[in-house]
Amino acid sequence: MDKFVIHGGHRLSGEIEVSGAKNAAVALIPAVLLCDEPCILENVPEISDVSISLRILYEMGAQVDYINRTTVRISTVGLKNFCVPYESARRMRASYYFLGALLGKFGKARVSMPGGCPLGDRPIDQHLKAFSALGAKCDIQHGMVDLTAEKLTGNQIYLDVVSVGATMNAMLAAVRAEGLTVIENAAKEPEIIDVVNLLTKMGAKIRGAGTDTITIEGVEHLKGCTHEIIPDRIEAGTFLIMAAAAGERVIIQNIIPQHLESLISKLKEMGVKMENVGDSIIVYGDNKNFNAVDVRTQVYPGFATDLQQPLTALLTQANGQSQVIETIYPERFRHCEQLNKMGANIELDESMCYINGKTPLKGAKVEATDLRCGAALLIAGLIADGITEISNVYHIDRGYANIDQKLITLGAVIRRIKVDD
Ligand code: EPU
Repeated sequence: MDKFVIHGGHRLSGEIEVSGAKNAAVALIPAVLLCDEPCILENVPEISDVSISLRILYEMGAQVDYINRTTVRISTVGLKNFCVPYESARRMRASYYFLGALLGKFGKARVSMPGGCPLGDRPIDQHLKAFSALGAKCDIQHGMVDLTAEKLTGNQIYLDVVSVGATMNAMLAAVRAEGLTVIENAAKEPEIIDVVNLLTKMGAKIRGAGTDTITIEGVEHLKGCTHEIIPDRIEAGTFLIMAAAAGERVIIQNIIPQHLESLISKLKEMGVKMENVGDSIIVYGDNKNFNAVDVRTQVYPGFATDLQQPLTALLTQANGQSQVIETIYPERFRHCEQLNKMGANIELDESMCYINGKTPLKGAKVEATDLRCGAALLIAGLIADGITEISNVYHIDRGYANIDQKLITLGAVIRRIKVDD
């Protein structure tokens, strides 16, 4: 389990490019199972969640060939296997997308209960509700989920909570079901639209992606296609926050600003100066005199829970008290203890925290307890006085492509120390 060692206090400047979206890629890869021809995915992020998803396909019998570092050709032609290897599946949350894709393709699926970041209770009842509505029998025993359906038939699916995963899975299972499926109270995240764009290129008939009602008319066959994955809005947002905290003048390239409106407006409220030029945002770091702000995480287009932890690190540098309310994962605050070790003054109160700033941060030995906690600690380490050592970097590698290399090009002093497991 690698470590990062960061020498804080070096101002960042230059250009940095955002990779493809993790939370789209991990659904797009299983989605390829649904078609009867090879597919090419472009702008595939070099992160471990993607390697695991591709390895699952490979272990199941698919042909997976990298054309270059970020382009991969996948052929599932002739694949008959509907069981996902346990060891790979349990290592990531998004392995649950194999449930919907395999059910859609074969009418059956066997996948272990998903792993992923420890963010508190993360049920999959809405995924199962959607599969049942389409005619599948769901059985969970000894940590394995078994789905079987004689035939999948379109139906009305009302999701009791707005869930990215359940919306994706309902779509994956429904695209080849017979008849019409209507998903109500669907999630609207850009990653959902990206998956719908891939499925549409394959020949699926889907309307309403990006609204809370998605309508799917089942088709018998889906064909191969080439699809470029959208930029990762959470990586982009992390870089915006990082540049605000530690930057002089940083140009963040390959951004879709519309995907980041809630963060951009929060950063402006804090006093961060930014300029949008085409698909780049330039962050000017001359003002480090930030205003305290209040944040409430919400489903898209509200403030993303995945950016709550990185923003908390910046809020330690704001003058006064900021309040963060977490409505998606009420326990997503493990980064606060780590930031406090570095000199932050954060008080936890159930599903919210109060950040009392501005506090100088000092280097410390801290632990990335989850992916976005890791991002928050990187930001803190860049501005801290002295040396910060972040352990459990594998969490960060799940979602940020080559982050140490990218930061080095901006002038950060960061080293990866290989630690044997
Ligand atoms: N929920 C249920 N039942 C379900 C599904 C979800 O109660 O069947 C609840 C969850 O407990 C949570 C809320 O609904 O309180 C929203 O969860 P959602 O299903 O939307 O989350 P997810 O699909 O499991 C994805 C991302 C997360 C991101 C959330 C919220 C992927 C692979 N993961 O998770 O990303 O935080 O949506 O936007 O797409 C990350 O990238 O760091 C990350 C954790």
